[in-house]
Amino acid sequence: MLSLMKTTYLVANWKSHKTTNEATEWLQTIAKDLPAISTLSEKKIIVCPPFPYLPTLKSYINDHALPIVLGAQNVSPFEEGAYTGEVNARQVKEFAEFVIIGHSERRREFSESDDLLGKKVKQAQGVGLTVIFCVQGEKIAIPNGVSIVAYEPSFAIGTGTPDTPENASAVCEYLKREKHIETVLYGGSVTGKDVHMFTKMPSIDGVLVGKACLDPASFSTIISHA
Ligand code: PGA
Repeated sequence: MLSLMKTTYLVANWKSHKTTNEATEWLQTIAKDLPAISTLSEKKIIVCPPFPYLPTLKSYINDHALPIVLGAQNVSPFEEGAYTGEVNARQVKEFAEFVIIGHSERRREFSESDDLLGKKVKQAQGVGLTVIFCVQGEKIAIPNGVSIVAYEPSFAIGTGTPDTPENASAVCEYLKREKHIETVLYGGSVTGKDVHMFTKMPSIDGVLVGKACLDPASFSTIISHA
């Protein structure tokens, strides 16, 4: 029988937080909470830690057969070579299935341009990584072949003031209808209290969570309430 339930994406973006011990403790806590979440089969949990924790988390996830997949927060716009400090797509792919590209923090703090972001997307796609491409509104260019877009209005990121579910839904619907994006997420100050207001909207396929994912108990609440 065909299921009419949509898959809800729950993406945890740790940004530049945590140490190895904290990363492992986070996963251990989440692992304990997951079996109690009855709607787990309808959810796709993607955790995006800083690069150094990808191998540790991957081993733990595999060893405990956890229903969690990994994503990176960035990728080099170049293939391997003399690019000091860069982590290339092939290296990311050893540990992760997803990569966040175009986050407003990278556009703002690291001056990432549309041109550079296009190169990153190309590299990621070239090795089979799925790109979660972030846009701040309807006007931002989306590179070809991107299937997951996160609508993340700057005023809502890290401010404690999310967009309204109605407005977020209207933008997500636009991205699906006009830009033919398959999966559209909302991001910006999502918490366990309001996550369902967003995920219950038919055009919103999930959420990208920053601050509220850092505490594992609070991310578990988001997973169960979504
Ligand atoms: P926030 O971050 O949940 O802390 O607002 C969201 C994001 O930057 O993706």
